[in-house]
Amino acid sequence: MLSPIVAGVWRMAAWQWTPAERLRWIEQCLELGITSFDHADIYGNYTVETLFGEALALAPERRQQMQLVSKCGIQLVSPQHPGTRIKHYDSSARHIVRSVEQSLRALRTDRLDLLLLHRPDPLMDADEVAGAFEKLADDGKVLAFGASNFTPAQFELLHARYPLVTNQVECHPLHRAPITDGTFDQAQRLRARPMIWSPLGGGALFTSEGHDAQRVQQAMAILAARHEVTSTTIAFAWLLRLPSHPHLIAGSRRLSVLEEAVAATRIRLDAQDWTEILVAATGVNVL
Ligand SMILES: NC(=O)c1ccc[n+]([C@@H]2O[C@H](COP(=O)([O-])OP(=O)(O)OC[C@H]3O[C@@H](n4cnc5c(N)ncnc54)[C@H](OP(=O)(O)O)[C@@H]3O)[C@@H](O)[C@H]2O)c1
Repeated sequence: MLSPIVAGVWRMAAWQWTPAERLRWIEQCLELGITSFDHADIYGNYTVETLFGEALALAPERRQQMQLVSKCGIQLVSPQHPGTRIKHYDSSARHIVRSVEQSLRALRTDRLDLLLLHRPDPLMDADEVAGAFEKLADDGKVLAFGASNFTPAQFELLHARYPLVTNQVECHPLHRAPITDGTFDQAQRLRARPMIWSPLGGGALFTSEGHDAQRVQQAMAILAARHEVTSTTIAFAWLLRLPSHPHLIAGSRRLSVLEEAVAATRIRLDAQDWTEILVAATGVNVL
């Protein structure tokens, strides 16, 4: 349902584009085969969905060519929510349904293709969340559901009450927890393809001066030369090689970076290539 590379729009408010520029970027993503767009109600302090919806209103027919993902469950301290004293999580049915209705208005669409609970909430009542998901599905407002940043146990709990299609988590060579903590094993077992956020570590993969990052940069450059692609393509290819078949959410506003991400779908790293990056990241050979 989602494209292998997804466009993440978390940072869109900072790009300070006109609606026409935003539409042009969306259309260029579609031309590249990036048909899925990752939102959250809170992005840009509750503004990004509206910015995207404004652009979409200039070419509403584009909606049919894309999948819209959004998230809810975090409450920010913001003038838009005067009753919020402290940033907190809210996974009540009332909040989930209201948040989706607001996302639909802002995005100027009648449905979300996928809704995720943004963060695990210690006060989450799985039966209540499942009830909200059922209502949203029955009303045709959301086509599929998932979670984000859930541990395997948290995912298991909610999945037992309502079928989830994905867990969206952070992963890149400098943050490998989901590879070893059971998250991707669970995804593979359930055939629920994960979504990976910050595949370039938010840029840190290239800008960090830490020893681990420096070694990874060197290893990526060697592989880039071997495969005749860029280091960015290698970073995406490293994640695409995972057997849980993740969707990767690229966060760059630059089309050149998005092209390099898509180029990763056309190469395949072998086990030795893959291990070279792993070993660069950990600093030790596998046992
Ligand atoms: N579920 C969650 O909790 C969660 C959390 C965070 C993010 N997300 C989602 O994941 C998406 C992607 O996250 P992300 O933006 O952190 O992804 P990312 O693709 O890892 O990082 C994108 C950032 O890296 C910069 N960058 C790219 N190539 C670079 C290079 N060679 N050197 C220096 N900087 C470089 C980009 O700047 P330019 O734009 O200038 O290229 C941009 O600021 C978000 O938009 C959001 O949809 C989800």
